[in-house]
Amino acid sequence: MIIAANWKMNLTREQAFHHLSISSRQEVHVRSGHQTVFFVPACYLAMAEEVLAPTHKIGWGGQDCHAQQAGAYTGDISAEMLLGFGCGWVLLGHSERRQYHFESDELIAQKTAYSLKMGLKVVLCVGETLADRETGQNNQIVAHQLDTVLGYIKDQQIAPDNLVIAYEPIWAIGTGNVASLNQIDDMHSHIREVLNRSAGKDTQNEILYGGSVNETNGAEIFGLASVDGALVGGASLDAEKFASLCLISQQSNG
Ligand code: PGA
Repeated sequence: MIIAANWKMNLTREQAFHHLSISSRQEVHVRSGHQTVFFVPACYLAMAEEVLAPTHKIGWGGQDCHAQQAGAYTGDISAEMLLGFGCGWVLLGHSERRQYHFESDELIAQKTAYSLKMGLKVVLCVGETLADRETGQNNQIVAHQLDTVLGYIKDQQIAPDNLVIAYEPIWAIGTGNVASLNQIDDMHSHIREVLNRSAGKDTQNEILYGGSVNETNGAEIFGLASVDGALVGGASLDAEKFASLCLISQQSNG
């Protein structure tokens, strides 16, 4: 399973160092068959590299990157810059980027294509609003988000092997309103169908769930065969709690 921490814009420099230092020594993060990834604020990437690289196992990455190689894009960071700090991963299309930075499916497709081309593993977030779900449009919305990216990378002849999908219903993020097991299972199956249809074959891309995952609800979510891990916000900010969640994922995985 993949358990990815999305710190968002949280933790001071001291707190971040404390967290990563503890995590780098926790055995739960380096077990075979398990992948922990830290999506840290860009200014902590050097710190993540310094602290996590010696584990030879824990991954780290940026919470966004630009679709272009370089240029006059004040405030942005490129895939090359992430690679320069040892990142193996990038998080793209998070609903907070879509909402507050007006990122479209097309822009996210370009970012995904470029990041994959550069050799990064991409965790691509998809998910519907509460209004979408209440009007029964959730499957359609998520399929469109995913198809836009899959179609674009196919046109660019970029292999989707390093693409991981995170299903994050927007109404479940940071709210404590975790989606029900049926809702998660149904959407993950739907995402698998979209992936398979696009590839014309059975796909292996991992599908993570995100949205108020914590130590209380983790076991039953990880128990679903359609769930390959989680993208975790609030419950990833404390090293001990996050380690407990990783342990729960390993126990659920058998
Ligand atoms: P949450 O955030 O776990 O705090 O709901 C998840 C996310 O936004 O990735």
